[in-house]
Amino acid sequence: MPLDDSTLTLIGEAARLIKRSRYVTALTGAGISVESGIRPFRGPGGLWTEFGEPSMDGYRTFEANPRGYWEEMLSHARKSRFGDSFREAKPNAGHLAFVELEAMGVLKSLITQNIDDLHIEAGSTKVLEMHGNRLKLRCVGCNTRFPKAGFDLSTLPPRCPKCGGVVKDDIVMFGEPIPRDVLAACQAEVGRSDCMIVAGTSAVVYPAASLPLIVKDGGGVIIEINPLESDLSRICDVVVRASSGEAIPSLVGALKRLT
Ligand code: APR
Repeated sequence: MPLDDSTLTLIGEAARLIKRSRYVTALTGAGISVESGIRPFRGPGGLWTEFGEPSMDGYRTFEANPRGYWEEMLSHARKSRFGDSFREAKPNAGHLAFVELEAMGVLKSLITQNIDDLHIEAGSTKVLEMHGNRLKLRCVGCNTRFPKAGFDLSTLPPRCPKCGGVVKDDIVMFGEPIPRDVLAACQAEVGRSDCMIVAGTSAVVYPAASLPLIVKDGGGVIIEINPLESDLSRICDVVVRASSGEAIPSLVGALKRLT
């Protein structure tokens, strides 16, 4: 469905704000991958809406018994509720539009809560994956990441070839702290940013949801792209109630018309 006139007007406003900004960043969530066939967590069609939020002691369980964690993971005892959607998903027009914003020199960095690798698959190069990446493993000792494919799992828990630490899935578990290196990089980016595009997040999970607040407190502007109200809507300078797959390409078009 084409975007209506009032939405196009708001997208024009957002483009002017971006044009006036010095250091534009973005924060994305599950909503940006909905048009790629991956369910969100909350709201209509959300996984947690259907099954309830997982308990917060996932990481404590891993720490207490990393071998058991791996045995369960490898036994597929815990079949992912996402089914094959991750494996089958392809980047959509929203992901591709962020690649264009980066190529235009507009977008300085993109912080995502998504573990689906779709921003990287689309071609974005300045991506910070706050909650990890489903295709990677990470050493909990030195934070080194490894491709999951082909990693030696002959002994459990697998060990880091660099420091000997325990290796786990790179996906950040409930109750697990965000890895120090990626958190520091995110904080540095928002510290420089005077404009943040926030797309497809309910903004209820911290510390990710605190990042736009830091930009706002620093005098920056916030542009929200979300068909529904989020916890962030009240502090946004422009709110675009549309899907990211339609709104972000339209935003790129509006920016090009301003130059
Ligand atoms: N385009 C843009 N936004 C959309 C679209 C769409 N096509 N479809 C849905 N949305 C919005 C919803 O309105 C909702 O506000 O995307 C948001 C998705 O919110 P959540 O499901 O809560 O996802 P997210 O904010 O990324 O969750 C944060 O919670 O469960 C943890 O670790 C998980 O990274 C995740 C974190």
